[in-house]
Amino acid sequence: MGFNPFKEKGIPIEKQTKPWVELNVKPYDSSTVDPYTRLRGILMNGIEAEAVQFYHNFHRHIDIPELRAQLATLRRIEQQEQKMVNWMIPAEESTLQVTIGYEQLAVDLTAALAQAEQDPYVKAALDFALLEDFDHLYRYANLLAMTDEKKAESIVKQFTEIIPGRPTVIEHCHPVDTVRNFTDRSKTSAQTKLHIETIIAAEQQTMNFYMNIGNRLADQNGRGLYQEIAQIEEQHVTHYGSLTDPRASWFEMAVLHEYNECYMYYSCMQSETDDKAKGVWQMCLENELTHLQTAAEIMKKYENKDPEEMFPDSMPEPIVLKPAKEYVRSILSSQLHYTGDKTKMVPLNMSESQDRYQTFLTTSNDDFAPSQKVVQDCINSQGEDYRVETEGPHPADILLSRRDIPDQKSLLEFCKNR
Ligand SMILES: [Fe+2]
Ligand SMILES: [Fe+2]
Ligand SMILES: [Fe+2]
Ligand SMILES: [Fe+2]
Repeated sequence: MGFNPFKEKGIPIEKQTKPWVELNVKPYDSSTVDPYTRLRGILMNGIEAEAVQFYHNFHRHIDIPELRAQLATLRRIEQQEQKMVNWMIPAEESTLQVTIGYEQLAVDLTAALAQAEQDPYVKAALDFALLEDFDHLYRYANLLAMTDEKKAESIVKQFTEIIPGRPTVIEHCHPVDTVRNFTDRSKTSAQTKLHIETIIAAEQQTMNFYMNIGNRLADQNGRGLYQEIAQIEEQHVTHYGSLTDPRASWFEMAVLHEYNECYMYYSCMQSETDDKAKGVWQMCLENELTHLQTAAEIMKKYENKDPEEMFPDSMPEPIVLKPAKEYVRSILSSQLHYTGDKTKMVPLNMSESQDRYQTFLTTSNDDFAPSQKVVQDCINSQGEDYRVETEGPHPADILLSRRDIPDQKSLLEFCKNR
């Protein structure tokens, strides 16, 4: 029998409140931390932040005092978990260094989900945005190369390549071309629903992070780079957020959120190498089991439905964060030239959105994009761009050179001729 979170025993809710001294964990050591421990922390911070925001929205739509009080109780624990997890990051990591972790997570998490995803449309959505976050990692790494002694390689440790993806300058789609079809929850597998939940939470946390910390940089172009990439994260949250079935009730969504928290802490535990971090994942998992069972009781009480029917008897295979260089390169070779076309993701030359896209790009970029300038500045100051290119030359000719960067016009030409 596998792990069924509806049946496992968790920590009673009244025992979940922790004193400050336990919440204020000692941060990890940046020089020795396993990059994947860092990424699991960033991921679970995103999952917890989503849980908090979800419960705030839920209770604002509910008029039953007893239930609102119950949601406040659950939400307070989510807040506590979020603090504990996010406070694992030490102060010595600068905003930009933390950002490298955010984008490394986006790459390796998206690749892990895409490879496990059975629904072809959801997989296509993951592959599509994968190449964009992959490019963000490269742009921020170039900024870091110019402004910090610490290079991105010492953060990602060669587990993730740092080379151009779909260049950020051409990622900007018209908003109407960023909304996808929603999945049908009566037909979608639990695993697909969990993948969607996870990627929304991670991308949303990145969006929120850039909204708030993008102005903490002294470098004027760096500030612009955060603004530009933050708009793509908005695009990503729209893109992934549109995949969930909007017809699910608040009660059903609460169960799915809690199940996903169990699933992701369980996944983190399976692959964690650091004992202290593993202890955090385990404790949070034990909290989440009770949250899930509470959300299930709430659903039974107010909707008269059994949420266990929405899930298999045991949890799907855990999501393990690990190097995905080959996978990323395969998508880079085959889908660099894709763009959004209403609900579809298609090669540029097959899209009906071309006019809209070109107009939107020209208006946004206006002959200048911080994501281009950051690489040009790096070339000007260091002779070439910053890369961690471990698997050979770049698979796309147009992005081979480390001394010349293609402009918007030549990138679009390249994409159209693919
Ligand atoms: Fe939580
Ligand atoms: Fe990104
Ligand atoms: Fe993203
Ligand atoms: Fe929870």
